Amino acid sequence: MTQTAITTRTAPNLAKSVYIKTYGCQMNVYDSSRMAELLAPLGFAVTQSAKDADLVILNTCHIREKAAEKVYSELGKIRRLKGEKAQRGGRMIVAVAGCVAQAEGVEMMRRAPCVDLVFGPQSYHRLPELITRVLRANGADVLDTSFPAEPKFDFLPDPTGPRGVAAFLTVQEGCNKFCSFCVVPYTRGAEYSRPVMQVVAEARRFVRGGAREITLLGQNVNAYHGEGPDGREWRLGELIRRLADLPGLDRIRYTTSHPRNVDDELIAVHRDVPQLMPFLHLPVQSGSDRILAAMNRRHTVADYRRIVERLRSARSDLALSTDLIVGHPGESDMDHRATLDLVEGVRFAQAFSFKYSARPGTPAASAPCQVPEDVKSQRLGELQLLLARQQRDFNAACIGRTLPVLLEKPGRHEGQLAGRSPYLQSVHVAAAAERIGEIVRALITAASANSLSASVAQVVTA
Ligand code: 5AD
Ligand code: SF4
Repeated sequence: MTQTAITTRTAPNLAKSVYIKTYGCQMNVYDSSRMAELLAPLGFAVTQSAKDADLVILNTCHIREKAAEKVYSELGKIRRLKGEKAQRGGRMIVAVAGCVAQAEGVEMMRRAPCVDLVFGPQSYHRLPELITRVLRANGADVLDTSFPAEPKFDFLPDPTGPRGVAAFLTVQEGCNKFCSFCVVPYTRGAEYSRPVMQVVAEARRFVRGGAREITLLGQNVNAYHGEGPDGREWRLGELIRRLADLPGLDRIRYTTSHPRNVDDELIAVHRDVPQLMPFLHLPVQSGSDRILAAMNRRHTVADYRRIVERLRSARSDLALSTDLIVGHPGESDMDHRATLDLVEGVRFAQAFSFKYSARPGTPAASAPCQVPEDVKSQRLGELQLLLARQQRDFNAACIGRTLPVLLEKPGRHEGQLAGRSPYLQSVHVAAAAERIGEIVRALITAASANSLSASVAQVVTA
């Protein structure tokens, strides 16, 4: 889980300021940018510090218990800042958005009285109206965790703020899969796909604003079935082909996928579309058919292996990443062994692995045979050791190769830039700041567990 403070715009002299702190997934990062854009016409400028902010928004994540708890600890700090501002005669509105807000709405207002406004991921297009209601409410709390019939995208203003050279674009939201352990279908609601031409228009705007890479986002992105310009439903593969026609869009990625929705067309797109990067995040969750069934994943280990094989035949250099959960209720030592075997067989370039965390209201939370914490820890340790080795091996194999790297931002050290390889590895290159936005041919000279170092060979495209 990442925590990101929005850094799109600062305007310290404007009358009102908003501080937005983002937790969790990339979709939350995208949502936070859209919230900032919604608030701009109301006179709110983004600030980097909560200290004197007129409005504080915590855009939260509920996927695991730890992620949700972080929000309450942050609210403790915000409460103090709000009190200090009140003593100086000012007012700070505190809002909680995102999935914790959706899941815990009323409970959250009880547990954290400093909160004035709670709204879910599907109602943030109403933010200006909600803020006005808070200002009029005179101390009373405002709550909107509805799933409105109107899709929020139809009511959001066109994105205006800079998104950087690598932008995220939500094309699909929500999930109908109901995996046993997961809160997403409850917090984000049912699957919804944005119409093709709405996505294309937004992508075009991002490219005009300097983006050279776009990652298409969705909780179940390859379940995408948006209305096409011909009135038919388009699948993700068709959407990617359409986006690949946009001049200036050099790189396309998509995340997060479900094995069930990897169709023939999507595999073909990996073969045919050079802009589609040879890297795929494809969560498997477990390597045991028994546990996959208990998780309601609707795919088997053999299905997953077959998909990986087909993808690799379509694009031989495809690197894979995945999500894995250890200690789902009922998981035995043998099931865990099967997960290690699957990982050994597939060889992942990168992976996220988690201890199962019971989420209230999900079927797995009330299942018998919960796995003890110490067993989960031991299994996670073993799995992470194997995954770290695979990641290190993958990175080490890049030494001596020349890879195209999109330079995205200043690096950790003076005179250094950080970029991404086609395989989403972070690459550090000695280069001047004005080269941000270039795709360079970088000779990889060293590799660590999490990143690569390179010397620049030459510019691919400026
Ligand atoms: N416990 C642990 N991990 C979870 N994930 C989702 N729900 C849970 C949970 N209850 C993981 C899955 C998913 C990723 C985003 O988070 O691996 O793919
Ligand atoms: Fe959650 Fe993904 Fe399963 Fe949907 S497919 S319920 S988002 S883990």
